[in-house]
Amino acid sequence: MNETKPAVDLADAEAQVDLPTIGDTRRYDALMETIRNRVTVRKFDPEYCVPDEHYELILEAARHGPSGANAQPWQFIVVRDGELKREISEYFVAEQRFRAKAKMKFPTPDYRGLATAPGFIVVCSDMRWVRAFPVLNDGSDLDRMYKENAERILLQSVAASTMSAHLAAAALGYNVWWVTAIGQENAQKAMKPLLGIPDELSVLDIFLFGPAAAKPYKRWRRPLDEIAHFDRYNGEHFMSDAQLDDWIANRRHRVMYKDASKID
Ligand SMILES: Cc1cc2nc3c(=O)[nH]c(=O)nc-3n(C[C@H](O)[C@H](O)[C@H](O)COP(=O)(O)O)c2cc1C
Repeated sequence: MNETKPAVDLADAEAQVDLPTIGDTRRYDALMETIRNRVTVRKFDPEYCVPDEHYELILEAARHGPSGANAQPWQFIVVRDGELKREISEYFVAEQRFRAKAKMKFPTPDYRGLATAPGFIVVCSDMRWVRAFPVLNDGSDLDRMYKENAERILLQSVAASTMSAHLAAAALGYNVWWVTAIGQENAQKAMKPLLGIPDELSVLDIFLFGPAAAKPYKRWRRPLDEIAHFDRYNGEHFMSDAQLDDWIANRRHRVMYKDASKID
């Protein structure tokens, strides 16, 4: 008899899902408390040492993230070695200086805090997983079009998992820092040999966490009615290019750092 076995024990898998009654807000309230209080800081208490079990709790949350085709195309490298942290931070401090010279006008944060961040996790993605998404894999033009979207699927997947990790850290009482200034090829070249990362993988971002060195503050958020649309796109929320450019020129630095004097 040809018995087709499911990949999981269905009864066991079903028993693992335990949602509250619809409308019971207790879990929502606890989750929102974590979500609202997840705030970025860029300098942590350098003396604090993250217990290994906290890394496990945080990465356990990452493990449960959703992903396209359930590919789980992520790898997380926990960096505990202070010398390695310092070497990685050198790249970012150099990037900070380069941006200043290149007159990018981006209010680049101070990356020196990386060197002494107690919690330090390098988030890697394996781009080869795009082959697991809806693509033809025949090198055709159509294939290229699908692959572009496949890349987005992959990046969204890793971001979803990373977000779970950030929330888990916040739920444990830590402040967090999500650093993506790392996509450039020279960043990959600087980072990968230090950590022995294979060529096939990319460093997507770095997740820092720890107790804040100074009092953390909550940043501005757009009001809900400016971002929510029901049934149809509400044109009142549409920003013209001129409005967008004006926002970048006059508001960006303030929403990133509360006010321009607070560059951290
Ligand atoms: C995808 C993504 C990329 C980010 N990249 C950087 C970065 O490269 N450097 C940095 O200092 N902060 C980075 N941040 C942190 C944001 O600046 C921060 O989340 C934002 O200002 C809102 O502040 P909050 O996290 O306190 O709510 C990034 C955040 C996200 C989600």
